[in-house]
Formats: sequence, structure tokens, C-alpha cells
Amino acid sequence: MKGIILAGGLGSRLNPLTKITNKHLLPVYNAPMIYYPIQCLVNAGIKDIMIVTGGNSAGDFLKLLENGREFGLKHLDYTYQQGEGGIAEALGLCEYFAKGESICVVLGDNIIEKNICKAVDDFRAQKDGAKVILKEVSDPERFGVPELDGDKILNIVEKPSSPKSSYAVTGIYMYDNTVFDIIKTLKPSDRGELEITDVNNAYIDKGNLTWCELEGWWTDADTFSSLLHANNLVADTGANNL
Ligand code: DAU
Repeated sequence: MKGIILAGGLGSRLNPLTKITNKHLLPVYNAPMIYYPIQCLVNAGIKDIMIVTGGNSAGDFLKLLENGREFGLKHLDYTYQQGEGGIAEALGLCEYFAKGESICVVLGDNIIEKNICKAVDDFRAQKDGAKVILKEVSDPERFGVPELDGDKILNIVEKPSSPKSSYAVTGIYMYDNTVFDIIKTLKPSDRGELEITDVNNAYIDKGNLTWCELEGWWTDADTFSSLLHANNLVADTGANNL
């Protein structure tokens, strides 16, 4: 399984912090934000990793991460997303990297306390389809929200005004290689992006989306308050062994 970290987009919710640098290079306590998703994949045994960057300071990723030596890696792959056409658009840029294999995708602003080893092992055994990781949250309207029926996800709605559950779909996704065919069929949403939620709903329609619940805390870091929250969580308990 290959690993993909999506660190494109313009980080506009964090302006002016993101006026001259990429959101994923901002500090989260004692490490740049991008360190956390990399360590998350490495901890799950995924060592073949591509980073999608974007914006003005894309070259800084190379200066910071080099070939991934600090994470015990021999090599890192990079690609560049122009503008912010959405998470699914950024993922679509990785088709040539995945080379027919299944992938584990982590959003560059998602930080977790523990690890995803069991979810990754379960997905390896699943063989095809997709898997998402859910977490119960107090503010589901900020996220993709699943409607659940027992252990089945009926559908996922992106940032619903009336959420059908108190779960968020976290920014950690596992897909078989058909994800790239699905992305090619997507149309931009009302916010002008190719939505990862539409990708996940396509797997639900095929009856091929499984889910599990994340252990330990989870946060994103794309608003001033969630960035502060992420800093405090990492300062209090640490994350991903970093
Ligand atoms: O954090 C989990 C949530 O992430 C999910 O619950 C939502 O379903 C999913 O749509 C996403 O929501 P956000 O609106 O918070 O995503 P955001 O635009 O903040 O982008 C998250 C990361 O994805 C960002 O740090 C970098 C990457 N990204 C985003 C865009 C829009 C890209 O690489 N390219 C892009 O064009």
C-alpha cells in the first residue's frame, strides 16, 4: 500500500498566517504540521509516500523534508497542485504514483494521538473498496458527516447544517485503485471543489465502503481555534510518537 499526504490548497481560513507560507509548514507545538501525517503513515508501516503541495512556498517542503531521512525513509515523492480545486483533485494527481496499488491518504492538516495500524491491516485484508475512519465530535457540521444504520454508512454529507450523527469522517482514507476512475467522473461542488465526500459516496453506492472508529484524540488545524487546539493537544499528550 502506498501513502499520500495532501498538503495543497491555499489555507485561506488561516490568512494572514498563510499569506507567505503553506499552512502545512506552520508549527504545531514543536514540529511543522506536515510532520504529523508523515509520522502517522510511517507508524502504520507505509514507507512509499507522495506529498501533494501547492501555493507559493512549495519549494520549502523539499528544504524541510529532503528525502524523508528524519522519518527513516529513503525517498519521498512530491507533486504540485495549482490552485485549490479540492481534495479529490489533489488526490487525482497521484494516479501515476499509485501505479495500480491501493492507497492510504492522510490530509496534511489532520493530527492524531495514536496510530492507524489496525485500520490499515484490516483494509489490506479487505482487498478492494474503501475504508474511512470516524471520530465522534462536538461540532460535526464542520466536517463530512455519516448517516449510520448499525455498522453501515448510508451516506455522507459534507458540512451539513443538520448533521445526521455526531461523527466526523476524519481526513484518513483508504482506497483501492478504482478511486482514480471515480475522481474522473466528479463535478465541482457548490464551493467549486472536487469533494472527497463524493468519492466516498460513490463507494457507498457500490456497497464497498467500510469504516472503523479512531482511538485517541483527532483534530484538524485549519482555523485559528482548531490550530490552537491542535497545539494544546500535542503539548499536553504528544502525538504519533513525535
Ligand atoms: O479534516 C477532515 C475533513 O476534511 C473531512 O471531514 C471533510 O469531509 C473533508 O472535506 C475535509 O474538510 P475541510 O473543508 O476541512 O478540508 P480543507 O479544505 O481544510 O482541506 C483539508 C486538507 O486537504 C488541506 O490541509 C490540504 C488538502 N487539500 C485541500 C484542498 C481544498 C488539498 O491538498 N488541495 C485542495 O485543493
